[in-house]
Amino acid sequence: MRIAVVGATGLVGKTLLELLGAEPWLEHEVVAYASDGSQGKTLHRGTQKVTVQAIPEAIPEGMDYALVALPNSIAKTLVPAWRKAGIRIIDKSSAFRMDDDVPLVVPEVNVDTLEKADHLVATPNCSTTQLAVAVNPLRDAFGLVEVMVSSYQSVSGAGAGAMDAWSDQIQGITTVENPFPRPIEGNVIPMVGSVNNEGWFTEEVKFIEELPKILGQNIPVSATAVRVPVAIGHGEAVEVKVGREVTRDEVHRVFRDAPGLEVREDPNAAPTPLDVAGRPDVVIGRVRIHPRDKSRILFWVVADNLRKGAATNALQILEAWEKVK
Ligand SMILES: NC(=O)c1ccc[n+]([C@@H]2O[C@H](COP(=O)([O-])OP(=O)(O)OC[C@H]3O[C@@H](n4cnc5c(N)ncnc54)[C@H](OP(=O)(O)O)[C@@H]3O)[C@@H](O)[C@H]2O)c1
Repeated sequence: MRIAVVGATGLVGKTLLELLGAEPWLEHEVVAYASDGSQGKTLHRGTQKVTVQAIPEAIPEGMDYALVALPNSIAKTLVPAWRKAGIRIIDKSSAFRMDDDVPLVVPEVNVDTLEKADHLVATPNCSTTQLAVAVNPLRDAFGLVEVMVSSYQSVSGAGAGAMDAWSDQIQGITTVENPFPRPIEGNVIPMVGSVNNEGWFTEEVKFIEELPKILGQNIPVSATAVRVPVAIGHGEAVEVKVGREVTRDEVHRVFRDAPGLEVREDPNAAPTPLDVAGRPDVVIGRVRIHPRDKSRILFWVVADNLRKGAATNALQILEAWEKVK
């Protein structure tokens, strides 16, 4: 296979290259693309070196897959053209996620939707991905009525420029513009993305829209998204209303048997972002049943936003899609 990583110099792109530098990906050819300004830069694909190319004017020939990790505005023009040329595209941006003819895929949940893919698959927002992995087994076991989530989202979720701005703030200097509405160092910011007329920020709308599409079930989702001064790993406090009363043991058992996640049953071993950075999966802890309504399950879920939230999910999709001819 020939695989293009488009946006290879970004946080997601570099994570993709790192994963593509290990088995079972080493037998495939990888081409790294980024903006004109990054042409000629050297990146690392495992122990190999890769030279960055500017995204070419002409659509590259002989490319089987493109893993696109570009800002929305750039993805919006590149993706349709490369798709039309017959390249299978796995897009990390939010530009096409809600299009009816584009599957939005978390392999643990809805890998079957790949069969309908016409050269384009979208991957969900990082914070929605880990929530979908956690909520899906509860849906299968008990039925799902409603989902409520508060997210504690890391700085790397906003890209390389945000990490640079945070580093500036720690040092008390300004070399790059702060992408956040307040300083992130020593702070938590309950405003993630841009706000709509009803007061919802874009990261909250993504939960509300994307989770029902992934689950294939039109459930109400409510969300409050908060940016926190953490490098890697999003945490989420989740409350799920299910279709019947449950026990904590039952919920632990369901999580234990579910794909792509680990559940920590000891409340003192609750996972933190530092625990999950570099891990490919989703980790759950602090499972509780509401004392007055036993159909309400509360828990805490954490995942590496650059891995399961982005690069790992994309490569899992590629592996599964390759089996669909
Ligand atoms: N970070 C996360 O946790 C995460 C998780 C899920 C989804 N996503 C999504 O994944 C995408 C990439 O995110 P990221 O965090 O990796 O962002 P990033 O660190 O800011 O990287 C952006 C990449 O896009 C390239 N790029 C920017 N402007 C360009 C232009 N005009 N022409 C060509 N290339 C251009 C950059 O190349 P240069 O270096 O050459 O400028 C860089 O390779 C975004 O759509 C984001 O929303 C991110």
